[in-house]
This record gives sequence, structure tokens and C-alpha cells, in this order.
Amino acid sequence: MLQTSQSKNSIKEIFATPEKYEQKEIILNGWVKSVRNSKTCSFVMLSDGSTMTDMQLVFDQSLAQYEHFAKMLTGQALSATGVLVKSQGGKQQLEMQVASAKLYGEIPADYPLQKKATSLEFLRDVAHVRAKTNTIGAVFRVRHALAFATHEFFHKNGYYYANTPIITSSDCEGAGELFCVSTLDPKKGPVDYSKDYFGVQTYLAVSGQLEGEALALGMGKVYTFGPTFRSENSHTARHLSEFWMIEPEVAFADLDDVALLAQDYIQYLLTTILRDCAQELAFFEQHYQKDLVSKLKHVAETPFKKITYTEAVDILLKCGKKFEYKVAWGSDLQSEHERYLTDEHFKSPVIVTHYPEELKSFYMKVSPDPKTVNAMDVLVPGVGELIGGSQREDDYEVLVSRMKKKGLNPADYEWYTDLRRFSSVPHAGFGLGFERMVMYATGMSNIRDVIPFPRFPGSAKF
Ligand code: 4AD
Repeated sequence: MLQTSQSKNSIKEIFATPEKYEQKEIILNGWVKSVRNSKTCSFVMLSDGSTMTDMQLVFDQSLAQYEHFAKMLTGQALSATGVLVKSQGGKQQLEMQVASAKLYGEIPADYPLQKKATSLEFLRDVAHVRAKTNTIGAVFRVRHALAFATHEFFHKNGYYYANTPIITSSDCEGAGELFCVSTLDPKKGPVDYSKDYFGVQTYLAVSGQLEGEALALGMGKVYTFGPTFRSENSHTARHLSEFWMIEPEVAFADLDDVALLAQDYIQYLLTTILRDCAQELAFFEQHYQKDLVSKLKHVAETPFKKITYTEAVDILLKCGKKFEYKVAWGSDLQSEHERYLTDEHFKSPVIVTHYPEELKSFYMKVSPDPKTVNAMDVLVPGVGELIGGSQREDDYEVLVSRMKKKGLNPADYEWYTDLRRFSSVPHAGFGLGFERMVMYATGMSNIRDVIPFPRFPGSAKF
């Protein structure tokens, strides 16, 4: 374990193996969660961000500068040295008898986290301090565990981690939800992109898929894990303008292969956090989502349901429920429809395949029934669409004609269509929205609470 002079011990590590530390001197650095003064001593609950559990520190009145310590405030940063002992009080197992300590700076009257209970809405306005709270700290620790497990899963299964460009000249999804990247000033007249920095019009990437395909068609199995950007004007609890996506891409694979991969990957993530983040999940279950742990366990162990879009439409038409948006073959499934399928009908994740060709992007492989494409969405309870993926169109002529049909100029995508000229093979992949996965794993209901500094229309303050 790395030991720096400033941070000798973490509360997480101490509670994991208390026998190693009991009756020994330890050093803790952290932030004061609460202070309670008795006649002869001060009890301080200290959090160092490493775990859900706070450590109780006992400041005895015999301590030098006791008066100074007795005045410490919630939020104040503190370094303390002392001996770890079994706690006398009933609530906690262990406590530190402080021998010496140092307080850092002051907590001014306008410190935003004075009150114990603060709403998630309020915390969004003070995103620069919210990592100090139990809820947000727990969310970000689960986020870390999911990111780490992602790399572990793909690495163990023979995938190479690939980095695709953030600045790109192509609109992968063809949906026009692009942020432009330019060094030219549009205030100075019409912009001639041939004179721009890259000599072509460029954007922030909405997906790394197209480049991911190029890499898979040389390396076999790759995955990306990077930021993606969409300028859609969505103010929902499931959309961000900047979000992280994991995109595996597999050569010599079809839709069924990646549907199975999606299930294995999600189940691996859930199994990992059920093992490694049990305290955090128990906290979310207590405060945010009833039965979270048993639901996640069930999903981690049960094969996912798989239905076609046509079957999904049938279920929705026959269910007798009144939806705001009409259900009809050929129309996109709205989130209320997706939620009905996952939350009410199946009560579990469901993979919906073979969507109408007209609804889906140019790169998806046309099915034997040409009205549909070999596409899939993985829908999960409470969140809706977690994954979008497909088998890719590997036939040069079909791809070019679909591009034209969707208003794209094949000449702008020559390198991409070339991949179909150079001994084309079936290949497939998908994109998992990382924040939606964090929402699903934690039971948090707003995507703005699962990314440290959310970007959405009208907001980029932090
Ligand atoms: O379904 P999408 O648009 O798929 C693609 O971008 C493909 N190129 C992926 C691929 O096949 N390699 O997006 C994939 C996932 C969605 O299922 C959703 O979870 C998430 O990305 N997502 C968003 N998450 C947060 N905010 C947004 N605005 C999102 N848009 C999509």
C-alpha cells in the first residue's frame, strides 16, 4: 500500500482489518462531520471520503489546546494522530483517542453544508462541495467501482482498450446533435470551414463507434471508454450534454453475440458492486430505493428477456394502459413505453431487437426482413434505455445507399465505407451510457447526481 507522509491510514482500510490497527498509533486526515461536547471531552465524527463509515475521534480535555479543538465546526479539515481503541460507546466499534491534532483554516458562516439534511436539488447548486456528503460520496465510490470493473471485464475477456477522437468531422448518429469545434469567429461573417483550424467542419464526438469499428477490424475486440457530447435540448433526468460511454466493438460477430456480451457485462458490473460496495448499496436501499440490493442480485443472476420491437409493440398495444404518446409500429418507443416494459410488464431488464429501419442510424445492418435492422436497445427498470447497439452494415452497396437515403454524403465517410471494400466481415457493438449505469446501480433517479459536474442546457457553472 502506498504510504505518503500526509496520509498514513484510511478509515476504509482500518475498518476492513481492525485487528491490524487496534492499540496502535494511527494518523487520519479528513473532514469533520459532527462534533458533540461533553463535560470532559469532545466527540468528533470524521470522514475521510474513503468509505461510508465515519471514525469517532475522542478529544480529552487534558489535551494541549483542548479549548481550540472543542470549537471545531462541521466541515473543518483535520489531521489527527492517536491510538485506535475499542469504543466505549454503543454506536461504533472503534474510536481514536487523539494524542495530537491540527485543524486547517476556518468554516465561514456561508459554508453550504451546515445543516445535516440537504436536498439533492440544493446539492446540485453546490457541486463543488457535494462530494463531502454521504450520498454523493457513496455515488462516486460506486461510479469508481463500475469504471474499474469495466476495464477488468473487457481486459479479462480479451478486449483492447482503445481511445477514439474527441474532435471529429463525422456525425456518427446522424442526428445532428453536435457541438461545433471551431477557431473561427462567426460574428465576423459566414464561416468558411476550409479556412478553419482542421480545414473541415469539426464537432465534439457523439460516439466513438465509427473509429471503434476501424480498430476492431484490425484488433478483433476493442472497447472505448470516453466522454461523448450531445447538444440535444433535453432537460430530462436521464440526459446530459456531456456523458461517458463504453463502446465495445467486435469483429466476426453478429447481433446475438453482442446481446449476450451486453448481458455478461452488466451482470459482471452488478456482481462486482454487490461484492465491493455492499455498504454503499445498503445506504441507497435505506434512503433511496427499497429492495435495491435484492433487485440487483436477481438481475446479476438471471438471463435477460429478449424480444423484438414488433413483439414489444404488440405488448404495449394489448396492455390496456393509456400512454401519452401513441403506440404504433414504426414509431419510436418513448420512455413511458420502455418503462412499462421494464417496470410493469417484465419487471426486469429487457433487450429489444430489430427496430424499424427508418428509425435507426445509417450504419445498422439491414435484417433479412428489410423493414428492420439488426439493432438492439437494452432497457432497465427505473432508467429506461441503458444500451444502444447493433450489428453493422458490412455490405458496401447497402451501406452507401442507406447513407444517401438518410441525407448523408458517402464521400464524407470514405474511410468508413472503405472498411467494407477491404474484405468486409460481419461485426457488431454497442454503447452503454455510463451515467445511466451508475443510476441503475445506485437507485438514484436523476442523472445530474451521478456525475461530478453535470453539463446540461443552460448549465456549465462548475
Ligand atoms: O443509443 P446511442 O445513441 O448509441 C450510440 O451512440 C452508438 N453509436 C453506440 C454504439 O453502438 N457503439 O447511445 C448509447 C447509450 C444510450 O443507450 C444511453 O445509455 C446513453 O448512451 N446516452 C445518454 N446518456 C446520457 N445523456 C444523453 N444525452 C445520452 N444519449 C445517449
